Amino acid sequence: MFLPSSLLLLLAGQAHASYKDFGIPHSSATVSVKVFNVGFLELINATHTFANPVVPGHESVTFPMYSFLIEHNTSKSHQTRHMFDLGIRKDPENLAPAFSTAITAGLASLKEDKDITEQLEDGGIPLTSIDAVIWSHSHIDHIGDMSKFPSTTGLIYGQGTNTETFNTTFPNAQLQESDFAGHNITEVDFSNTKLSFSGLPAIDFFGDGSFYLLNTPGHALGHMSALARVTPTTFISMGGDTFHHVAEARPFPDFQHNFPCPGDLVASARSTISTDFFWSPRTHNGSFDIPSRAQPLLSISDLPDSVYVDPSTAAVSLEKIATFDADEDILVLVAHDASAAGSLPYFPASLNGWKKAGLKKEIVWNFVNASNPAFFFDVTA
Ligand SMILES: *[C@@H]1O[C@H](CO)[C@@H](O)[C@H](O)[C@H]1NC(C)=O
Ligand SMILES: *[C@@H]1O[C@H](CO)[C@@H](O)[C@H](O)[C@H]1NC(C)=O
Ligand SMILES: *[C@@H]1O[C@H](CO)[C@@H](O)[C@H](O)[C@H]1NC(C)=O
Ligand SMILES: *[C@@H]1O[C@H](CO)[C@@H](O)[C@H](O)[C@H]1NC(C)=O
Ligand SMILES: *[C@@H]1O[C@H](CO)[C@@H](O)[C@H](O)[C@H]1NC(C)=O
Ligand SMILES: *[C@@H]1O[C@H](CO)[C@@H](O)[C@H](O)[C@H]1NC(C)=O
Ligand SMILES: [Zn+2]
Repeated sequence: MFLPSSLLLLLAGQAHASYKDFGIPHSSATVSVKVFNVGFLELINATHTFANPVVPGHESVTFPMYSFLIEHNTSKSHQTRHMFDLGIRKDPENLAPAFSTAITAGLASLKEDKDITEQLEDGGIPLTSIDAVIWSHSHIDHIGDMSKFPSTTGLIYGQGTNTETFNTTFPNAQLQESDFAGHNITEVDFSNTKLSFSGLPAIDFFGDGSFYLLNTPGHALGHMSALARVTPTTFISMGGDTFHHVAEARPFPDFQHNFPCPGDLVASARSTISTDFFWSPRTHNGSFDIPSRAQPLLSISDLPDSVYVDPSTAAVSLEKIATFDADEDILVLVAHDASAAGSLPYFPASLNGWKKAGLKKEIVWNFVNASNPAFFFDVTA
């Protein structure tokens, strides 16, 4: 096979990329990011609606639900507060009927001590201080209970969000009037933006380079992500439901290059990852080899009951966010990353110092540790 050496270098992965390589402009403006886990949602016999392959014994899935507080200093004396996603409400019996019945039928179960409004208030953040809530998309595990927020809290979501679901006479309505009534609603329109990062259309939310909304379609109509600058050169990518399991994005070659899998996990995975379901070039004789795997272990579901409204578009959004995931200066957190749930510094701690603390290097391979809840790769049934 003949390949130019520059292409071979590309295939081998870049040593280090700068945020500028993605098209992210320079800025010294930052936001503060704090993360909450609102609770855990178990979905019975639903792994196949998210991921492929489903290894016997892993048919059901338990998700954390992250919510983010974004604080932005407008001036020395004025700060704004926004939420990016809210997790699910605490009283599932009051969800739209299409979902409350799923819970009463035992198809899903919820563990949630305090909803996001209680966690905020307990932490000294009055709801009246929240300028607006941003929904990555309008699903029940992201929209919280907007009726608990005062009318002064605005609501922001992506253009194209299925407004049919706002109509409560629609039989499968996912939303109720109380989910949006009384709030100042802003639809984010990406059609005229000139910015794009790694191919994702972007909007400079505060106009100073500290916080961007990104168009990441595929999972739900109007689905958006966010990218927060937490130091002038480091970022947090809040991926929403661009993908649901980190093994849908890991490991691409650049990720392998920048985040080599720790030796003890390479060793344990030799016997724990099923070679009947997973392959890599140097996997032999029932012994799985992680370092030579050059594509994610899982792909997103394209079955008729996939949670992705448009699986092929979702796969493109995913690959673009995966370029961030491979970068040493961007921490990617999707809303339901179960691999990270036990390792994140939650509110009231700040997530801004993730790079200095070595958090990403410490957690990115957790999903191949057989004792991690995101380990989906051994046959247990
Ligand atoms: C905003 O201002 C407060 C108070 O001066 C400061 O503690 C905080 O670090 C600032 N946040 C950012 C993101 O600059
Ligand atoms: C789980 O879902 C699959 C695919 O829809 C179905 O064939 C199977 O019967 C289900 N199993 C249970 C135990 O519900
Ligand atoms: C809600 O949907 C019904 C049935 O499609 C339609 O007749 C009605 O006009 C819709 N209401 C609103 C407010 O859009
Ligand atoms: C509604 O939100 C938009 C966008 O944030 C803002 O420009 C507008 O002033 C708000 N309107 C009201 C009545 O608060
Ligand atoms: C896997 O995770 C467990 C629990 O966090 C930890 O004690 C163990 O050291 C990890 N194993 C490896 C090989 O990193
Ligand atoms: C393959 O694994 C089996 C069982 O562990 C072992 O007996 C055999 O020698 C191995 N073969 C090779 C070629 O390594
Ligand atoms: Zn979700």
